[in-house]
Amino acid sequence: MVRILTERLILDELTPADAGDMFPYRADPEVCRFQSWEPMTTLEEVERFIAQINATEFNTPGTWFQIAIRHQETGQLLGDLATHFLADAPQQVELGFTISPQCQRQGYATEAVQGLLQYLFQDCEKHRVTASVDPRNQASLALLQKVGFQQEAHFRKSLWFKGEWVDDIIFAILRSEFHSPSKQKTL
Ligand SMILES: CC(C)(COP(=O)(O)OP(=O)(O)OC[C@H]1O[C@@H](n2cnc3c(N)ncnc32)[C@H](O)[C@@H]1OP(=O)(O)O)[C@@H](O)C(=O)NCCC(=O)NCCS
Repeated sequence: MVRILTERLILDELTPADAGDMFPYRADPEVCRFQSWEPMTTLEEVERFIAQINATEFNTPGTWFQIAIRHQETGQLLGDLATHFLADAPQQVELGFTISPQCQRQGYATEAVQGLLQYLFQDCEKHRVTASVDPRNQASLALLQKVGFQQEAHFRKSLWFKGEWVDDIIFAILRSEFHSPSKQKTL
């Protein structure tokens, strides 16, 4: 069971009870614009998604696991982190991130990604964490650079994505490069 405390946040498992907070941002076309998924249309769809996505345990090779980003004081779900444990490279993880629009630009994604990286590198002994970003996604580019990811590749028109060929930038951070930002606890 994952439970990470950062300065303002709790990162833990999503539960079906989170569907109500998650639905508005999962249904928002702007939030989905650069994500592999399409806007969800019903609360039941979000509930099914939460039940299915975490059917396997965190850190199972070949699976995705979705982590809740909650405010410590209010318990409000602010967004989520997607962790992909690669089937053929168990020490490597691919990361995705979403923050609800009304909670963006307050440093929450930075704090959550730093907290998760610390957990992945120090507790799970992962070697390398990657992220794949559309170069038009300015917020994600800024976030990854801020937390210390390095750009490793820029593939031109390499993905057929939502009806068009798009560029794909690959970012990565190695355990040896990661600097712990602040005190945090894993419970
Ligand atoms: C990417 C995302 C998670 C960032 O969340 P956030 O909580 O707003 O990020 P932070 O507040 O921690 O900001 C991180 C950096 O990004 C910058 N940033 C945030 N939003 C930005 C935007 N719209 N345009 C440009 N820079 C932006 C911030 O200024 C900050 O950099 P700084 O401290 O040097 O100024 C959020 O915009 C989001 O959920 N987007 C939609 C989903 C998405 O595209 N996910 C990624 C798919 S690969």
